[in-house]
Amino acid sequence: LRIAVLASGRGSNLAALIAARDAGTLPVEFTLVASDKASAGALRLAEAAGIPTLALSPRSYPDRRAFDLDLFARIADSGAELLVLAGFMRIVDGAALEPWAGRIVNIHPSLLPKYRGLHTHRRALEAGDAEHGASVHFVTAELDGGPVIAQARISIESGDDEDTLAERLLPLEHRLLPAVIALIAAQRLALGPNGITLDGSPL
Ligand code: GRF
Repeated sequence: LRIAVLASGRGSNLAALIAARDAGTLPVEFTLVASDKASAGALRLAEAAGIPTLALSPRSYPDRRAFDLDLFARIADSGAELLVLAGFMRIVDGAALEPWAGRIVNIHPSLLPKYRGLHTHRRALEAGDAEHGASVHFVTAELDGGPVIAQARISIESGDDEDTLAERLLPLEHRLLPAVIALIAAQRLALGPNGITLDGSPL
């Protein structure tokens, strides 16, 4: 399966995908790693792995949609069959998403539908939740609102803060995302007209 990855930050989830590919547990080819931040560590990781990279500056575009449409055109040109958002910190315009319905997934650090958007660890702590986690979901025009594929859970302990939650959650993210993409690469998991299917049957 040919995948492109979008990342805005350090790219620890990208690193996990590359490691799974190298370990032989994730049968994918990376066609492109792209970012809205030229300084993103994810781009350095991709370069080191010999993966083509692209950095586009939103400031070079007249509006958000123009940026998204150009970015997604470049992703399509790379030959990607699946697009993975892994720490991509922009809301993607619906027009750019349209051609990718069912072929774009995101990992979000909350137990969706709780805490869509930003600052999820802080919000879970402030709510006094007993549990927290991460979700891998298909991306739709609704921010962090697409069908959830799989989740990882951690308990919130007394004394936890945003950093300790992220520290405990990231290693689970790094197992969850490659496992979901492996199911998609094996054509076992897909987003059909009536929702997610696994081995041909609705989940
Ligand atoms: C992770 O918490 C991920 O869930 C969210 O962005 C954070 C950083 O990801 N999408 P990464 O280390 O840049 O992959």
